[in-house]
Amino acid sequence: MGRPNLLITRGLPEPVLKLADASFEVKLWPHDYPIGAQLLPWAQGCDALLVMATDRLDAGTLQQMPSSVRAIATYSVGHDHIDLEAAADRGVPVFNTPDVLSDAVAETALLLILSAARNASTAEATLRDGNWGPWSPTHFLGQQLTGRRLGIYGMGRIGMGIAQRALAFGMQVHYHNRTRHSSASAYTYHASLESLMAHSDVFCACAPSTPQTRGAINAERLKLLPTGAVFVNIARGDLVDEDALISAITSGKVGGAGLDVYCNEPMIDPRFKQLPRTTLLPHIGSATHDARNGMGTLAIDALRTLLLDDAKPANCLNPGALSRRFLKGVS
Ligand code: DGY
Repeated sequence: MGRPNLLITRGLPEPVLKLADASFEVKLWPHDYPIGAQLLPWAQGCDALLVMATDRLDAGTLQQMPSSVRAIATYSVGHDHIDLEAAADRGVPVFNTPDVLSDAVAETALLLILSAARNASTAEATLRDGNWGPWSPTHFLGQQLTGRRLGIYGMGRIGMGIAQRALAFGMQVHYHNRTRHSSASAYTYHASLESLMAHSDVFCACAPSTPQTRGAINAERLKLLPTGAVFVNIARGDLVDEDALISAITSGKVGGAGLDVYCNEPMIDPRFKQLPRTTLLPHIGSATHDARNGMGTLAIDALRTLLLDDAKPANCLNPGALSRRFLKGVS
């Protein structure tokens, strides 16, 4: 069998492209913007796709996917942009990139927690704007993390990484998750998101975007936060009712916010840019060389294992599609 054709929908770090070139005939979308509606025409004749979190593979797109496409990997841990069932219906297994980015994203969460608690964005802007006056005991006062309760919504690999790091800051870790973790016995479990929010001096959203979590952080629940709480989101923007969050920050209910993700990236609600005590990052959670190389390696390895070694890779998000393929003995 010849080298499989692989469509990569965005430029990737050099080591990852080299790895892909070693096993595949790579067809690379050359533009620095998402492939959008060009995905289907570009997928013609391809055996596999390596897509981004910005590419929407909904049921309609997957139904029209050329039959040559036998596997899809996404260069992300999040997979809310792919209809896994629709892919399984086409017999197409989908792979993602967990673990390798957990440290980078956990570090980003700590960056935002610290920045929001200490209002670092405003302090830096004041300096850059030339408005830094003489040192004052009352300027730029923020919240110290020592002894504060950190509430983690979604205790997966990234949530656990944030919890471990928060301990080093002397924080008490609380969490809410679909299931209670035996490996998280040092942390206080809350059976409901409401209870977690009521006990979070610092609240960090780390849950995946699913029909159950979308919009879960709404006006009613934001009211449960202790007044002045710090709010951080490193997961997905659509977990949050953004109108309600903006009101909570404006009113001071939320005392500081750190956001890496938004509902309509990159065209975010312009009101965010006017908010006080808020640090805004442009979805850079996993943006380290280590993480991005690791993500690429994992994604390419999965596609290579399946298409060249005819073996079952790990990290399959719709294992039914994989079982079907191996039952049929398709290669
Ligand atoms: C992920 O891996 O899901 C990151 O948010 C990048 O999209």
